[in-house]
Amino acid sequence: MSLNQDLVASLRTQFPALQRTLRGQPVVYFDGPAGTQVPVCVIEEISNYLARHNANHDGQFLTSVESDAMLDEAHRAVSEFLGADDPACVYFGPNMTTLTFALSRSLGRTWSADDEVLVTRLDHDANVTPWVLAARDAGATVRYVEIHHEDCTLDMDDLRSKLSSRTRLVAVGCASNSVGTVNPVREIASLAREVGAVSFLDAVHYAPHAQIDVNSFGCDFLACSAYKFFGPHIGMIWGRRALLEELEPYKVRPAADALPEAWMTGTQNHECIAGVLAAINYLAELGRVTSGDETAGRRAALTHAYTAIGEYETELFDVLLRGLMQIDTITVYGITDPSRMSERLPTVSIRHRSISSQELAQKLGNAGIFVWDGNYYALQLTETLGLEPDGMVRIGLVHYNTVEEVHRLLEVLAAIP
Ligand SMILES: Cc1ncc(COP(=O)(O)O)c(C=O)c1O
Repeated sequence: MSLNQDLVASLRTQFPALQRTLRGQPVVYFDGPAGTQVPVCVIEEISNYLARHNANHDGQFLTSVESDAMLDEAHRAVSEFLGADDPACVYFGPNMTTLTFALSRSLGRTWSADDEVLVTRLDHDANVTPWVLAARDAGATVRYVEIHHEDCTLDMDDLRSKLSSRTRLVAVGCASNSVGTVNPVREIASLAREVGAVSFLDAVHYAPHAQIDVNSFGCDFLACSAYKFFGPHIGMIWGRRALLEELEPYKVRPAADALPEAWMTGTQNHECIAGVLAAINYLAELGRVTSGDETAGRRAALTHAYTAIGEYETELFDVLLRGLMQIDTITVYGITDPSRMSERLPTVSIRHRSISSQELAQKLGNAGIFVWDGNYYALQLTETLGLEPDGMVRIGLVHYNTVEEVHRLLEVLAAIP
């Protein structure tokens, strides 16, 4: 069974937030890129952890043993989710931004004044400023990869021209949280490797839409955040073992030196880690249902899930994009060519001819349609496009959205003069 409207209707019943109404109408969540809604199985696992297994790490008694077993299973689940082979190379922390700042401190102290780091004009600032500040502290130089303005894709010639034997880090997103562009991360990681640079991928926006595969991406680090893929507010990083062992984590003395604990500073948010495990299992179950492969192991089930999600989202996005292109008061940013949909995700940013982005988002919000406005922290991009301070309005689809919701949005947009 593919992810069709009936199955989506049934999945939607698992998300309590989707039952909300405003003035008698269901609300529409097109704010997924800022955080997705959460199925009841995730909510229950968080509450179950707190009710039954709440304990600190590494104790000699029942609840701590249970809690540690859950943590081990969560590391395995995230490792499978990311296509990694070693659960000890996955570590958790408050969110992607905080984890990236911490890692930047460890990586940055290996840089010096002759070194260069490469960031992009397309990325969320969480994959820019941590590296800029670490470079500043090391006296290293930051170089910015430019974009093609007309379709908001990375200028790969520019990227190649800025790589050299001085490059120590290439930091790039798997996909833009603003305009949905999917970046050629395999090629970028390979180019980084050729010059001896470390590659750091931000998969935060990619994770709810497409399957991550650190082995095939060939990257050195990859970060994501569970609240963007139907889980709670917590971040995680996968790193190559040799690098995690070689770099010095900033940690307290009594904390373990072994992986993954060395990189997990302080007491972790165990209930949210239980929620991450449940979110990954939710996606895996979706894959078993859509494929009919009931006995599929977690990684295979996740592959099925992302195939179904990708197909469904592409169809839905097609309706949205075609509709937006027909409204003459709206400008669409990013890739719009229907033959290039594999180069983008179902996240799009728009502007209205006569009202500000904030006013447009307010009008939609009043109509029960939740979208984001501004720069969504992809500040390099809005600055490069000359769109500060107003920014754009972002519409983000995920697999629980429906074609009725898309039509409702298009109708409201078309009616704004
Ligand atoms: C692409 C991207 N990277 C990084 C982040 C930052 O993630 P976090 O909120 O977990 O720090 C976000 C959040 O919006 C994002 O969309």
